[in-house]
Amino acid sequence: MTMAVFSAPGKIYLFGEHAVVYGKTAIACAVNLRTRVSVERSDDVVIRSVIGTTGIDHAVHPYISKCIEKMRSRAEIRGVKIDIESDIPVSAGLGSSAAVTVAVLSGLNEEFGAGLDKMHIASLGHEIETEVQGAASPTDTYVSTMGGIVVIPGKKRIPVIGCRIVIGNTNSGVTEKKTARLVAGVRELLANSPGEVMPVIDAIGRIAEAGERVVNSCDYVSIGRLMNVNHGLLDALGVGTARLAELVYAARDAGAFGAKITGAGGGGCMFALTDDPQKVAAAIEDAGGTAIVTRITEDGVRQEC
Ligand code: MEV
Repeated sequence: MTMAVFSAPGKIYLFGEHAVVYGKTAIACAVNLRTRVSVERSDDVVIRSVIGTTGIDHAVHPYISKCIEKMRSRAEIRGVKIDIESDIPVSAGLGSSAAVTVAVLSGLNEEFGAGLDKMHIASLGHEIETEVQGAASPTDTYVSTMGGIVVIPGKKRIPVIGCRIVIGNTNSGVTEKKTARLVAGVRELLANSPGEVMPVIDAIGRIAEAGERVVNSCDYVSIGRLMNVNHGLLDALGVGTARLAELVYAARDAGAFGAKITGAGGGGCMFALTDDPQKVAAAIEDAGGTAIVTRITEDGVRQEC
């Protein structure tokens, strides 16, 4: 029996979450935490992950079940065995559902010869995320498919920086529902005080524009400074929490170039940019978070064997 093995990365926002909802510039990047899937022809449908072993099951494995259904209209898939394992924490704002969706679609595409290119994989992945979650930004599936650092909304690729990233997980989950509530909360703030809040959103967009320039020149000190300002503005929009702030300040006190929330906020993760990842990771752990040392990666979805 042949088998296709693919992996796809998670993502962080270097700059610009929430403001991107209003069309402002943002910068997202793939990080080297990956979801690996193996896809093998079989008599039945078997999906195996840490959650359990099922067939097509929209309650337990909604993304993977949708992937199989969507690909069945593009290739003849009678039975398939899919095994999933992942480094990406779930409900942490790191794009774990996009990574599994992109990796499974790519595995099915290869194994059953559906002939989709990467752009198709990214857009089909976004369609699946939207159907499962009700609403989804195309950024997660795009970045997971293509990898690298991507300036949104134009999807411009800029060169990857080598500096280390330490992610700090508060372990307080950000579900899709919570993300939708946070986005709605910012919208309400804006509706109530447009004159005061729109400048905050504009400033986040301008920080992302300036961020593109300093990322291009690998100026880590300036990237870190802009991250810190971006974090403060996210706090101003009401999406910070005390736990996130504790991890952000612990990372800065440990000498990180900068530290900020990544994603919707309200829990989930922060990250720090640093040249001393062990020290920053220890500080984040001491402050009660779970630290993950990683780096930005050029590699989007890729075949492993
Ligand atoms: C959530 O990961 C990022 C937000 O900007 C929402 C979105 O862009 O869809 C908060």
